[in-house]
Amino acid sequence: MQDSLTLLGLESSCDDTAAAIVRHRPGQAPEILASVVHGQTAIHAPFGGVVPELAARAHAEKLDICVEEALLQADLPLSALDAVAVTAGPGLIGGVLSGVMCAKGIAAGAGLPLIGVNHLAGHALTPRLTDGLAYPYLMLLVSGGHCQFLIVRGPEEFTRLGGTIDDAPGEAFDKTAKLLALPQPGGPSVEAAAKAGDPKRFPLPRPLLDRPGCDMSFSGLKTAMLRARDTIVAEKGGLPVQDRADLCAGFQQAVTEVLAEKSRRAMADYLAHEPTEPAFAVAGGVAANGPIRAALEAVAAKAGVRFTAPPLRLCTDNAAMIAWAGMERFRAGQRDDMALGARPRWPLDRSSPAMLGSGKKGAKA
Ligand code: KG4
Ligand code: ZN
Repeated sequence: MQDSLTLLGLESSCDDTAAAIVRHRPGQAPEILASVVHGQTAIHAPFGGVVPELAARAHAEKLDICVEEALLQADLPLSALDAVAVTAGPGLIGGVLSGVMCAKGIAAGAGLPLIGVNHLAGHALTPRLTDGLAYPYLMLLVSGGHCQFLIVRGPEEFTRLGGTIDDAPGEAFDKTAKLLALPQPGGPSVEAAAKAGDPKRFPLPRPLLDRPGCDMSFSGLKTAMLRARDTIVAEKGGLPVQDRADLCAGFQQAVTEVLAEKSRRAMADYLAHEPTEPAFAVAGGVAANGPIRAALEAVAAKAGVRFTAPPLRLCTDNAAMIAWAGMERFRAGQRDDMALGARPRWPLDRSSPAMLGSGKKGAKA
């Protein structure tokens, strides 16, 4: 094993262009020497969603700038790097291609090894970067584009225990906010409104809770919200603030109960493998939700399992997670070459059956 390694990571699979530099000395905690993220929110805002062609062009324009900024932040020359890691999928193909081409250019120009990284592996391995979790640990990825339980066994070894069969919870929060005329992103505004609400007033469904396993569904919940709202509007000619708060509280409570119960089941599956240092990590924007986080933490505490959640800036798309996932592949002796391709789809667990919907209606993962 090489002593100290310093990797550059690049990310461009959706609407964030990012470069980061991570250093790791065996036996010590990894250090993020630089992390630069240029979002594209303003570019896509007028279109109500990410426009792939515009995203790809913006990535191509920003990648070099991000790399320069990251080297400046870390105060390092290119020659101090040991390898370049890049998101090679899954994601919007134009953006992924921009990143892969940029990484190939740097690798060829500076004579550095090239490592392709699965973007989802980047998210899933982040608790090792931030908290040094030992394999195997249980992971819940829960964001605007994703929702799945994984047993993370190694840098490229994942077992998918279940996930959403339609919308991701973040997507459901966003749609709920939209139908209640609350600002986007919906998660924080629904959470804020729910604080003054009665979660018991509207009996909303708990989809798939009556079925065994860890699969989830959130699209029916959103439809139930729409009906409840329409009933109130028809009766009262509008949506009073208290009714809106009660709807938000009811919705948040339903999502919380589903995530908590499914986590309990995933935990039982995971613990059956008798991990030596049992841990449950949650990542993704929805992990920022106070009541949801508290419920997941309680599930872990009850099972005597360590609970961790990476800081939000490392939960959302960034390149430090790509540099770290690349570091793990590199240490395992893996390298890519100039034939590295860009993959729009790339499931983490190749043995699990493809899902019809998997919370991937949005562009983000
Ligand atoms: O991980 P993320 O930043 O991006 C991806 O989707 O990849 O997650 C964004 C999602 C949005 O749908 C947002 O509404 C949701 O996370 N979110 C929340 C909260 N903060 C962000 N959902 C519930 N409660 C929150 N406090
Ligand atoms: Zn992501």
